[in-house]
Amino acid sequence: MNPALRSLGLSCPVIAAPMAGGPSTPQLVVAAAGAGCLGFLAGGYKTREALAEQIAKVRADSVPFGVNLFAPNPVPVDPDAYRRYARTIQPEAAPYELNLAAASIVEDDDGFREKIELLLADPVPVVSFTFGIPETGVIAALRQAGTLVVQTVTSADEARLAARAGAGMLAVQASAAGGHSGTLTPGTVPPETPLLELLGQVRAAVSLPLVAAGGLATPASVAEALAAGAQAVMVGTVLLRADESGASPPHKAALADPFRGSTLVTRAFTGRPARALRNEFTDRYTALAPSGYPALHYLTSPMRKAAAASGNPERINLWAGTGHRYATAEPAAHILTRLASKA
Ligand SMILES: Cc1cc2nc3c(=O)[nH]c(=O)nc-3n(C[C@H](O)[C@H](O)[C@H](O)COP(=O)(O)O)c2cc1C
Repeated sequence: MNPALRSLGLSCPVIAAPMAGGPSTPQLVVAAAGAGCLGFLAGGYKTREALAEQIAKVRADSVPFGVNLFAPNPVPVDPDAYRRYARTIQPEAAPYELNLAAASIVEDDDGFREKIELLLADPVPVVSFTFGIPETGVIAALRQAGTLVVQTVTSADEARLAARAGAGMLAVQASAAGGHSGTLTPGTVPPETPLLELLGQVRAAVSLPLVAAGGLATPASVAEALAAGAQAVMVGTVLLRADESGASPPHKAALADPFRGSTLVTRAFTGRPARALRNEFTDRYTALAPSGYPALHYLTSPMRKAAAASGNPERINLWAGTGHRYATAEPAAHILTRLASKA
């Protein structure tokens, strides 16, 4: 395993990926640490205060951990396209008495500055970024504070940019991954390059240590990624049904449903490409959704919350990678230990 990860006291090369929106709980991070693996808190969508609270909970167990943030990379939505889309999806929100067609555009940076201030004032062992590469001053300050900085990349070009910006390690994320793509160019859906091929391309481009992510769900596929030169792997989807996962009940149930079909990459929920299980919403709106994150995230959020509360899986973002069939309901430590068993 990579010396930087080993120096954190880790013995397992499988990392529990950050999963914003509920799945990544402090309990999941502590459970991963119990198996000798690194876990990540997901700082995305959280206020500085809510993130600080989760950090305190993990710290109470004195385990190594990471924190993930969405780095600003705004793709302002075209106002006309936004209004057209809001009108188009209104029939889906009407049953919840929501008027999306009247919703005004919200653009923000997810409280990035405030959360960086928190992580500099009270440093954590590892910080990872997705969606964008922070300015070099931010990365340098974190490194100065003793934090290992991991940058998500989805191509060799992005890897070169991340290396130039000073990242200490790269999370190489293939299109098979569940949830949002970390692509720096979300206006274009990233190509479906297989993970091992992408790893090879990134290895040829930069000399940083690499963490492989995307579609890894079996001990054999984990061993293969490590043999291909990754220093560690990162898994998300396969942990979504774990006992400690905070994924919503309809999300967990959909993952367990043998009749639910395949996954696809869609902008329909948030305006940024993300891999999800197909449902009525993705079937109807994937072809119609404009690019525009976070505006579309805020637009559809009330509908998704209402649908989750009423247990309706057809109107929520069922984020899942291609390995979703392997997601099992059991303690996370069992899942992670099994995945590492052939490493
Ligand atoms: C529900 C869900 C939420 C996610 N949220 C985040 C996030 O907040 N930040 C991030 O960097 N990656 C996020 N990801 C992507 C993961 O970090 C990781 O790249 C991915 O899960 C790996 O592929 P896999 O799901 O096939 O294991 C998320 C993935 C899922 C499934």
